Amino acid sequence: MDQRPIGVFDSGLGGLTAVRALCKLLPEEDIVYFGDTGRVPYGTRSRETIIKYARQDVAFLRTFDLKAIVIACGTVSTTAIEVLAEENSIPVLGVVEPAALAAAKHTKSGRIGLIGTQASIRSGAYERYIHTVNPAAQVKATACPLFVPLVENGRFRPGDIVIETVTAEYLTPLREAGVDTLVLGCTHYPLLETVIRNFMGPDVTLINAGAEGARAVAQALKDQGNLARREVPGHCRYFVSDRVEDFAQLASLFLGWDVTEDVTQVEIGIERS
Ligand code: DGL
Repeated sequence: MDQRPIGVFDSGLGGLTAVRALCKLLPEEDIVYFGDTGRVPYGTRSRETIIKYARQDVAFLRTFDLKAIVIACGTVSTTAIEVLAEENSIPVLGVVEPAALAAAKHTKSGRIGLIGTQASIRSGAYERYIHTVNPAAQVKATACPLFVPLVENGRFRPGDIVIETVTAEYLTPLREAGVDTLVLGCTHYPLLETVIRNFMGPDVTLINAGAEGARAVAQALKDQGNLARREVPGHCRYFVSDRVEDFAQLASLFLGWDVTEDVTQVEIGIERS
């Protein structure tokens, strides 16, 4: 048993897709979330910058006494997980491997679509994990750089002409390729789940990287005997590097409960070692 909180971070709102799944799977856990809303997006940046930002995010989270860190960001998971795991004495878990393995197991036709940020697609990390389980799988990958800024601006609802136009532009080649499984390889994308599902049709299974990551975290904590035990639900605290109001409003909408009282703005980018 370990009563310490789980630290979770992302460049912005996207990591909430993992938080929502964690709260469902492990309601007794305390969670400390950091969303780097002042510097989102990460996915358009260089490897060096992503590693630098990720180190600063982890340094902030480690000002809390945590039992594990969840990289609830596809971009950081594809680009910096080895560095972060090596530098930290507590488990550092990502979303890429669990999502890739879920897709590799699920596909029947062997045709898998993958969408993610430019940095994630460039890394080839999803394909590598998919091919460890299913070497014959054909992966058709597309970077969708406009999705993250649109989600951060609340443009994720069905019927929104902007998001629907951008979705059609990005996903038409995947629909035409006849994929039966689509990896939402950036944790922001499940906020677009309905829009993407409407476009791809009911026969394509969507793999949610945040939810798959949360499942793997729950399993790892269980296997290690490190789950928390309490009579009341755990508490989630949220920290962001830009305005509290924008994050609180969209986070409350997405999570389905009001987080306004639990969000704090912090200074990031200062060395804390
Ligand atoms: N949620 C992040 C990911 O999973 C967003 C990346 C970004 O900030 O561009 O990749």
